[in-house]
Amino acid sequence: MRAMTVGNPATLENLKLVDIPDAGSPGPGEILVKLHASSLNYKDFLVATGLLPVDAGRIPLCDGAGEVLAVGEGVVDLAVGDRVVAVFHTRWPAGEMPSDAMRGAPGDTIDGYARQFAVAPATWFSRAPEGYSHAEAATLTCAGLTAWRALVPDGPVIAGQTVLVQGTGGVSLFALQFAKAMGAIVIATSSSDAKLERLKALGADHLINYKTLPEWGEAAFNLTGGVDHVVEVGGSGTLPQSIAATGYGGHISLVGVLTGRGGEIPSGMITRKRLRVQGVQVGSRKDHFNMIAAINATGIRPVIDRSLPLEELAPALSLQESGVHFGKITIDIG
Ligand SMILES: NC(=O)c1ccc[n+]([C@@H]2O[C@H](COP(=O)([O-])OP(=O)(O)OC[C@H]3O[C@@H](n4cnc5c(N)ncnc54)[C@H](OP(=O)(O)O)[C@@H]3O)[C@@H](O)[C@H]2O)c1
Repeated sequence: MRAMTVGNPATLENLKLVDIPDAGSPGPGEILVKLHASSLNYKDFLVATGLLPVDAGRIPLCDGAGEVLAVGEGVVDLAVGDRVVAVFHTRWPAGEMPSDAMRGAPGDTIDGYARQFAVAPATWFSRAPEGYSHAEAATLTCAGLTAWRALVPDGPVIAGQTVLVQGTGGVSLFALQFAKAMGAIVIATSSSDAKLERLKALGADHLINYKTLPEWGEAAFNLTGGVDHVVEVGGSGTLPQSIAATGYGGHISLVGVLTGRGGEIPSGMITRKRLRVQGVQVGSRKDHFNMIAAINATGIRPVIDRSLPLEELAPALSLQESGVHFGKITIDIG
């Protein structure tokens, strides 16, 4: 079967499409999945370029969706023909994240889904939401679940509260959609006025261009009297503004590192406002199932910017890094 692999050194040019042995037959408790689609997350760029070191030859991409071709003995929750989507954490079933969870992260510490077939424990997949294409389902593994975890189990957001989302990447658009589905008022930011118009069409209540208004935190605070939940994807470069935006007793989900991994933090303001700053590592398998149930109930559909074939993974990752996209870039595995 065909698979994309990370090179040594890891660079976009060294991503290689190779032939690897067939996946084989599923053993007890396992399923054989024909993967049809994946989608890109910023982390995949870090893996492919060596900024997040992985073993040479690692198959990248944590997102995956496809169809069950065979089931092993004892599998009762999934059947041949089911459309399925990969669960991000293979070692975090529910409750608090175990300390070794990241040792079972597809596309990072174990092989991901940039390949045609996978044999895996049935617990590594769930049914896809009703009516979803494979590409739509693939977007849920990481970006969808991260937004869900940030706002629902970790929030929890309740109707009438305010949520601030940053930019128009995969996590942020899911956060906007989940927040609106929960009855929240959403402030959305972007570097582009054209993208702000699209955020409005998705239901954002207040719009801020963070390039033309660098002190957007104060503006967001004044719009709402203090935001209840911020889904922080920028990291160190945006955190001071997020702290300024948040209301007393508010919650900041520390999700992303788009502007860097460390920096100066106005910690006094966190204390003064009694803020809750919560790190996020996607979510558990139980969170994943709850998210799928919520999607089936609300009819939320992911925003897909474009789809590229697996052969074009390197240009697809460059495109994502450039930030021109709106929502998810998906990968067609065929
Ligand atoms: N901790 C976790 O569990 C977890 C899970 C998933 C992702 N992440 C992290 O979350 C971040 C977002 O991931 P993603 O996959 O959604 O990324 P993405 O799709 O690549 O998002 C890119 C978008 O982010 C926006 N952006 C860039 N710099 C910004 C800034 N300074 N302020 C506000 N927005 C900014 C831009 O939107 P505009 O063009 O509209 O300005 C850009 O188009 C990444 O750092 C990723 O590693 C963490």
